[in-house]
Amino acid sequence: MTAAERRVQFGAHPVAYPLVRGLGLVYPVVRVPRVGVVVSDAAIARQVLSDPVSFTKTGPGSPADLWTPVVGPRVLLNMEGAEHAELRRKLGGLFTARAVSSLCAEVAAAPMAFLSSELRAGRPVDVVSVVKDLAGAVICALVGLPSADRAELARAFAAGTAMTSMVRLGRPRLTPSQVARCRSVLADLTAPAVRAYADGDPSTVPGRMRELGLTESEALGAVAAFVLTGTETLVSYVPRLIALAIDTGWLARLSLDRTRLDDVVNEGLRFTVPSPVMLRSVARDAFVGGKRVKAGERVVIATISCAKTLGPFDPDRPHSPALRQLWFGAGAHFCLGMPLAYAEIRTVLETLLGLDGLSIVERRVARRVLIPAYERLVVRCG
Ligand code: HEM
Repeated sequence: MTAAERRVQFGAHPVAYPLVRGLGLVYPVVRVPRVGVVVSDAAIARQVLSDPVSFTKTGPGSPADLWTPVVGPRVLLNMEGAEHAELRRKLGGLFTARAVSSLCAEVAAAPMAFLSSELRAGRPVDVVSVVKDLAGAVICALVGLPSADRAELARAFAAGTAMTSMVRLGRPRLTPSQVARCRSVLADLTAPAVRAYADGDPSTVPGRMRELGLTESEALGAVAAFVLTGTETLVSYVPRLIALAIDTGWLARLSLDRTRLDDVVNEGLRFTVPSPVMLRSVARDAFVGGKRVKAGERVVIATISCAKTLGPFDPDRPHSPALRQLWFGAGAHFCLGMPLAYAEIRTVLETLLGLDGLSIVERRVARRVLIPAYERLVVRCG
């Protein structure tokens, strides 16, 4: 691990990270009191994720336990079976190559113009705040609002993370007051989506969802799912990728050979794992890597440990089939927004390529947050 990346991970979870990583080095599967059955092996993790009959997202200790009181029962990440597959099928139209590149071009234009012009003028830029603008612009697009100014983007982003920041691994449910706060944030966030859905204008995402055959409540649920899953992950990942690429000299290499961009992005995902754990509830007695588990237990897939076995950041090394894209999940719940995530990540990285002598002038780690991240990462040219 680069020293900087270790500080990011330990800054978020000074106790849990070393513990989970330490356990993972010794045990591929281990039962940890008050946490669950922790899986640290990629092949076993893939088996669990690919068996939705035995391991679900809807039982005790699962994501449904956390989110259903806030978002209702039909939000993809708390659904299983035929209903889940049908909702995913309807939403697929939002993430085609064409839809994603037009959404990304629309949402990224202003933040990328700001990033590029400030750096070209020789001024320092905090990459974290630029990626927050980008994530805020995505939220605005999802709820059908034009992303007008930076203050508005910041409000949208803050509203989105107000919900995710309440989650802790050792606490399988939100408290009633957290649920109330999340519900009020969500009602504010989705109010424009209700109007955009009613207007049915297919140039807005809610209007497009209506065209794809989603009911109003499915469309609002999908917006909530996108905000919960697609905001903090990106704000965590993109600055960490940029820091890694600068620290290891890969950003300069990419400026000379852009064909390696996807290798760097994929290895960066493997090395940082912006979605460090996945949760499942055991629906019926089963075995996980030879260990018996009982219905009602919680399985914690420590994706971070599964991915780390490969060692230091090295975009030249291929990923094994068991590991391939595990950071986006596997099986029926595989990340629906992956094409959009890639489009946003590539856009930021490509904006930085070709700028002379980009270096990091300040970095500050975010402390005690759910997803490890930089609080500030200031870069400058020359
Ligand atoms: C680097 C960025 C991202 C990472 C690492 C990531 C990772 C993941 C992972 C690991 C899952 C599966 C969780 C599980 O099985 O328990 C997931 C699901 C999901 N992601 Fe992403 N994600 C990212 C960005 C996005 C974006 C930008 C969006 C959309 C705006 C998005 C939308 C979703 C949705 C809707 C699901 C739920 C799918 C389902 O349950 O069927 N994600 N993501």
